[in-house]
Amino acid sequence: MACLFRRSIAAQLSRVLGISTEKLIPVVSAVPVSKKQQTLDFQVSVNSLLTNGYLKLGSNVQSQAKDLSEKLICDHVITEIAVGQRSINFKVNRSLLAEIVVQEVFKKGSKFGIVSELFSGYPCKRVIVEFSSPNIAKKFHAGHLRSTIIGNFIANLKQALGNHVIRMNYLGDWGLQFGLLGAGFQLFGSEEKLNANPLQHLFEVYVEVNKLAEDREDIQKAAQEFFKKLEHGEKQSVALWEHFRTISIEEYEKIYQRLGVHFDEYSGESLYQVKAQELLQLIDQRGLLKKTKQGVGVVDLSPTGDLSVYAKVVRSDGTSLYMTRDIAAAAHRMEKYNFDKMIYVTAKEQCTHFEQLFEVLKILGFNWSERCQHVSFGIVKGMKTRKGDVVFLEDVLNEARSRMLQNMAASKTTKELEDPASTAEKVGVAALIVQDFKGPLLSDYEFDWDRVLQSQGDTGVYLQYTHARLHSLQRQCGRGEERQFNPDCLQDPQAIALLQHLLRYDEVLHQVSEDLQPRHLVNYLIMLSRLASIAHRTLHIKGSLPEVATARLLLFKGISAVLANGMKLLGITPVEKM
Ligand code: ARG
Repeated sequence: MACLFRRSIAAQLSRVLGISTEKLIPVVSAVPVSKKQQTLDFQVSVNSLLTNGYLKLGSNVQSQAKDLSEKLICDHVITEIAVGQRSINFKVNRSLLAEIVVQEVFKKGSKFGIVSELFSGYPCKRVIVEFSSPNIAKKFHAGHLRSTIIGNFIANLKQALGNHVIRMNYLGDWGLQFGLLGAGFQLFGSEEKLNANPLQHLFEVYVEVNKLAEDREDIQKAAQEFFKKLEHGEKQSVALWEHFRTISIEEYEKIYQRLGVHFDEYSGESLYQVKAQELLQLIDQRGLLKKTKQGVGVVDLSPTGDLSVYAKVVRSDGTSLYMTRDIAAAAHRMEKYNFDKMIYVTAKEQCTHFEQLFEVLKILGFNWSERCQHVSFGIVKGMKTRKGDVVFLEDVLNEARSRMLQNMAASKTTKELEDPASTAEKVGVAALIVQDFKGPLLSDYEFDWDRVLQSQGDTGVYLQYTHARLHSLQRQCGRGEERQFNPDCLQDPQAIALLQHLLRYDEVLHQVSEDLQPRHLVNYLIMLSRLASIAHRTLHIKGSLPEVATARLLLFKGISAVLANGMKLLGITPVEKM
């Protein structure tokens, strides 16, 4: 983004250090904006110079930095150079700052922050993101919601960066649960209820049959029978299973749509029955299939070969396991997509599972196992609705929508909305996402509706609110597509703070692309909103000279565009009114 500025500073350093400008660009960073006004725009930290070997380690580092800074020269881009505590600081020409930043925002549009020298060496690749992956007939818990929104964010990000992304949902659509479900459905299933509310009905049947099976052997037997028939491909059972699967997916899709999420492929464990058996043969042929005392087939993962650590791959009755199907699925995806990267998004409880999966793949000689990555996250506690525990994703979305509608009812503008429920939904989803993305993904958090839906503070409601306000400003004062403006009209401290903050957008995206932690972007957008609110209060448009009004309006328009871009990456649909 800040091409000209970063490049000019790097060029200055290059002249003195005798290292290429390109290499030096990454050590130049925009100074993070705080609430206090600041005069500095960029910095080069002494640490980054040291770690790259551009300064020599030793006690006189600070004086080396001082010497270096003294050899740099101000020009029409850089207007001030000063050595500070462990950094060399730069102020840039403020007129240029306004001109270039605003121009870039409009010129690059949704690519603002992405078309940047920070991403110049970024390879575009084929990436599979596997996420959400609920289990048919079972609870869709908070963990699945987290996987859904985190995976969607990662897929959005990877795609924005130019990768070819395959969004995959790997359903829990196989296993003894279907035996129970099949047996249960024969006892108390209803076609009518199934059609009316498939997820609900399947879950009810599943819960009920589970209860029965606890002390009735005939039910357990019937479940085993049904599952056996399934495994042997008996037509009727398979048809029923397929019916359950199809209507569940249809239902999931409706709900994913409300979340703004889509999938390119619905995969699932069921697809890997046969392949899992073939794989077991391969494991056996390679002499890697070991048996535990209990007769379970395992792959030894211990460093000394004593079976102190292993991955279970086959039950004593010869049937495959979650792990076996995952190995087969990974191999199949490699064949089908030849991916450069595959990311699995699940709760941290499955960390060991994925570590072992990647290790087994490696042992099997699949060198591409290094391309697989597990992105894990912490537990959400206490996600409840007014009706009680969350069973379906739909419950959470409905609750967010209805609570939001209630909160919005107090505001005047809500009455003018064409479809308040749909706005409430978008704001509610934003609230869920921001709450979830605020901290490190690995931390657990306590869910609290009131906190989630607050309109002030670091919430999704606040982001939506700011975005809507900036839009209403444009509706009220819009002056067409005017792009010409006088940068000297954007020199108030509130405008400068916004411009400085925009200088850092590409750095933030770069950071997110490295560690896949959405919180950097969330915090950035919250700060952007704060700065925009302050500017909105102080930099009036109505009543200002036309030249000033035009410049300010353009700045606000730019801010709302960046805010919208960032929100969309997070998986939020920005609203224009609320
Ligand atoms: N269905 C699983 C669950 O709910 C998640 C699947 C994760 N993906 C995988 N390839 N194992 O726990």
